Amino acid sequence: MPTSFEPAANTGLFDAVVNLCKRRGFVFPSAEIYGGIRSTYDYGPLGALMLRNVREAWWRAMVQERDDVVPIDAAILTNPKVWEASGHLATFTDPLVDCRNCKERWRADQIEDACPNCGSKDLTEARPFNLMFKTYVGPVEADSSVAYLRPETAQGMFVNFLNVLTTMRRKPPFGIAQIGRAFRNEITPGNFVFRTREFELMELEFFVPPADSPRWHRYWCDERLAWYTRYGIASEKLRLRPHEKEELSHYSAGTTDVEFFFPWGWGELEGIANRTDFDLRAHQESSGTSLEYFDQPTGESYLPHVVEPAAGATRAMMAFLLAAYDEDEIGGERRAVLRLHPRLAPYQVAVLPLSKKDTLAPLSRDVLHRLQRYFMCELDETQSIGRRYRRQDEIGTPYCVTIDFESLEDRQVTVRDRDSTEQTRLPVEDLVAHLLGRLDI
Ligand code: GAP
Repeated sequence: MPTSFEPAANTGLFDAVVNLCKRRGFVFPSAEIYGGIRSTYDYGPLGALMLRNVREAWWRAMVQERDDVVPIDAAILTNPKVWEASGHLATFTDPLVDCRNCKERWRADQIEDACPNCGSKDLTEARPFNLMFKTYVGPVEADSSVAYLRPETAQGMFVNFLNVLTTMRRKPPFGIAQIGRAFRNEITPGNFVFRTREFELMELEFFVPPADSPRWHRYWCDERLAWYTRYGIASEKLRLRPHEKEELSHYSAGTTDVEFFFPWGWGELEGIANRTDFDLRAHQESSGTSLEYFDQPTGESYLPHVVEPAAGATRAMMAFLLAAYDEDEIGGERRAVLRLHPRLAPYQVAVLPLSKKDTLAPLSRDVLHRLQRYFMCELDETQSIGRRYRRQDEIGTPYCVTIDFESLEDRQVTVRDRDSTEQTRLPVEDLVAHLLGRLDI
């Protein structure tokens, strides 16, 4: 397995992280053996583990640690009337221009007055381009069988509002949370997994009495900012940015973005929108089903307003990787190290027998099996211990457990800390409690 890396001083932070992602199995270009497909990526073994950890970290904060949020898992394909009512069919568009010279297409709001490819100023007028992917349900490709891949998971929560309200005996304020794939036919995807046509959303729709929505909006801005710092992004690299009026989505009365300082500048990590009763009202009118909440104490019925923190899991993973990437010198040797939060790292523990000799195998397996019940672990037996430490540092493994020949005598092992490189010797029996104390937050 390759361990050498190009220092970020030569390549820049962005290239160093993209390179690491490919070299160490986080992210691969999709269908690479066929030449890939523009800006589409597959998550390799370490990327799949890390993406899962990002989802889990969100889930923990947004569902598990709360008593006012319930989850849902709605279908990706749904009745197209949903997208008509939500306004996505009419207004989920970006302004598209063509370069008449080189035939490239661009998002009008992302370029100046010349084509970024050939420099020509011979551009068409901007026209709206709908970002939804269209498909057909069933064997007949007719207008009546058109369906769309969801561009956001939110609508699955709005159309199930009544079902959740009645089955879960909830009253506002309460939320519905969902994580899932979303699809947008972006005109100019790019910057690695920052903007892709298929990505993963983590969304909460928080239903509140109308008068309370400004307060809840502020609350969720603070909560969401704190989530990124909790998982290791320095607060100087984060900011909240309220949208200008012209930027607002068709459904929003006010949106604040959580932004991260990407290598190319500030960029959106998540949007926290005050969607008012826009969606529930639209689905109520379109479906003919009342979606009002009846408040027993006051005897009033009302449509709740919605505050929506909507985050990209794939984009968040990229930000966590960029924020965690570091290089330092250990014993005169340069190393690349991902200082990832232990809960986000692909592996929490690496088990490293000092030698491949069979004598260490039974104890190493015993240690591995004890740890696997609690942590994602990797057993690595090849090459020198120094090289193995470097490999684990580079993929962000916070702890390495080394088993040596003395361990056979005293049943003690050495735990090495990724960041300080400090080593602690302790009994095998104490290992799980020791690591749990360090990993759990
Ligand atoms: N339901 C609201 C909604 O979808 P959004 O601001 O369009 O809001 C939410 O998207 C988040 O999803 C963004 O802040 C970003 O993190 C992520 N996202 C949006 N488009 C993306 C894309 N093409 N590729 C990767 N992530 C994307």
